[in-house]
Amino acid sequence: MEFPIKSGSPEKQRSACVVVGVFDNRKPSLSADLIDRASGGYISEIIRRGDMEGKLGSTLLLHNVKGTLADRVLLVGLGKERDFREREFRSAIRAAVRLLNETGSYEAVVYLTEEKVKRREVAWRIEHAVVVAMEAVYRFDQMKSQPAEVRRPLRKLTLSVPQRSDLTSGEAAAARGLAIAHGMDLARDLGNLPGNICTPTHLAERAQALAQELGFKCEVLDREKLEELKMGSFLSVTNGSDQPPKFIVLEYWGAGKKQKPFVLVGKGITFDSGGISLKPGLDMDQMKFDMCGAASVLGALCAIGELKAKINVIGLVPTCENLPSGRATKPGDIVKSMSGQTIEVLNTDAEGRLILCDALTYAERYEPAAVVDIATLTGAMVIALGHIASGMFSNSDSLARALINAGEESFDRSWQLPLWDDYHEGLASNFADFANIAGRAGGSITAACFLSKFSKKYDWAHLDIAGVAWNEGKEKGATGRPVPLLTTWLLAQETPG
Ligand code: BES
Ligand code: MN
Ligand code: ZN
Repeated sequence: MEFPIKSGSPEKQRSACVVVGVFDNRKPSLSADLIDRASGGYISEIIRRGDMEGKLGSTLLLHNVKGTLADRVLLVGLGKERDFREREFRSAIRAAVRLLNETGSYEAVVYLTEEKVKRREVAWRIEHAVVVAMEAVYRFDQMKSQPAEVRRPLRKLTLSVPQRSDLTSGEAAAARGLAIAHGMDLARDLGNLPGNICTPTHLAERAQALAQELGFKCEVLDREKLEELKMGSFLSVTNGSDQPPKFIVLEYWGAGKKQKPFVLVGKGITFDSGGISLKPGLDMDQMKFDMCGAASVLGALCAIGELKAKINVIGLVPTCENLPSGRATKPGDIVKSMSGQTIEVLNTDAEGRLILCDALTYAERYEPAAVVDIATLTGAMVIALGHIASGMFSNSDSLARALINAGEESFDRSWQLPLWDDYHEGLASNFADFANIAGRAGGSITAACFLSKFSKKYDWAHLDIAGVAWNEGKEKGATGRPVPLLTTWLLAQETPG
């Protein structure tokens, strides 16, 4: 989809559809008012009749409105004017795009981006309009033998800004939004692909294709190389699987080699059965999403590469399957990580931390500015924060702050939890340096504590995305989160000029 930026009056737009807002209760926005005047009070009449009261997300499509040059006018409810914030703005855009995509309009001019959102500039509104619009039209039908066709898909969404002087920043914001959306599309596609197609080998091939397309350096380490590197912890997870493990290394040097790179590490379990500590059958299919951390790393790199950001970013993806077999790792087995620390595997279903810890040790060679790992790590995270925020853990207050800010800015929020020493005690083992699990209580925190034992040499943060990476139920599917958070954070680290 295309997103041109424009400034001008709604009644003068030659378009298939002009989209304007109405506040609750029955209060036309400025642009709705302009249409109303041009049409001799047609909009206020409709509002008076009670067909559009301004409830958030409600829509009313009008045809051939007199005094306007557009074929249609779409009224969108914005909710109460004084409550019009980030969430409400995004809902209004989503409602408009969903409806437009079902009408006969190939294109439309949207005036909702002119409405003030508390604390947010016009650039924020444009960026989010693009991201939300792309999110709303996303479909995953590559596995259907007969994909359902949208008759006239929306191809062009012109976004209006209040003043001509907003055009330049608006265009930059649209480019940013589109890059983030492309990164999310990639992450969603990879997440939605089934485990029999999205194997570690498939992920590696997709990383190589991305590298080719955007000029990254890409290296894929295979089992032999991982043995040489002594990644005994990572390798212990792949024992039960017939699919070969891969360790993907993507490098984007956008700021010259002198600047320290930011490293993203993504959990790439392409299917998590639990291994010998087998999971219950109910909803086990959802464990194909256990590579969404890896997908978000590829997605964020895709966005950064598309924007040619002046920053250095390394993506590390340890990827394998977690399956039971006669060769699988057993509860009680002791493995030696690349760091030299030994781990008693008390539960083979706590496999994410076992592959991540070796990747975190591998990250040391970059002398990174900071390392952020992203993982669907614990079911306990879903219990703690639900599906709204990612859990965030860090050994650096400034890094934590930066991630929280990027999450608020991108509306892809994270919430910090503690890593206090008191929580570490549960990981004690009688046989190895420590175990891979503690008790049930505080499961997300003790998982993060485990990872912190491998990330002492740099500023590090861990994002547990178990609750946000995919939707369940009727809307089952990958969300593309936290690509917006990661990209926004990385862009904020860009060197000026
Ligand atoms: N991939 C799962 C975490 C998960 C479970 C994410 C359900 C989203 C929904 C992870 O590998 C796992 O199995 N974690 C265990 C850890 C436990 C054995 C300490 C869990 O959360 O139950
Ligand atoms: Mn598991
Ligand atoms: Zn897992």
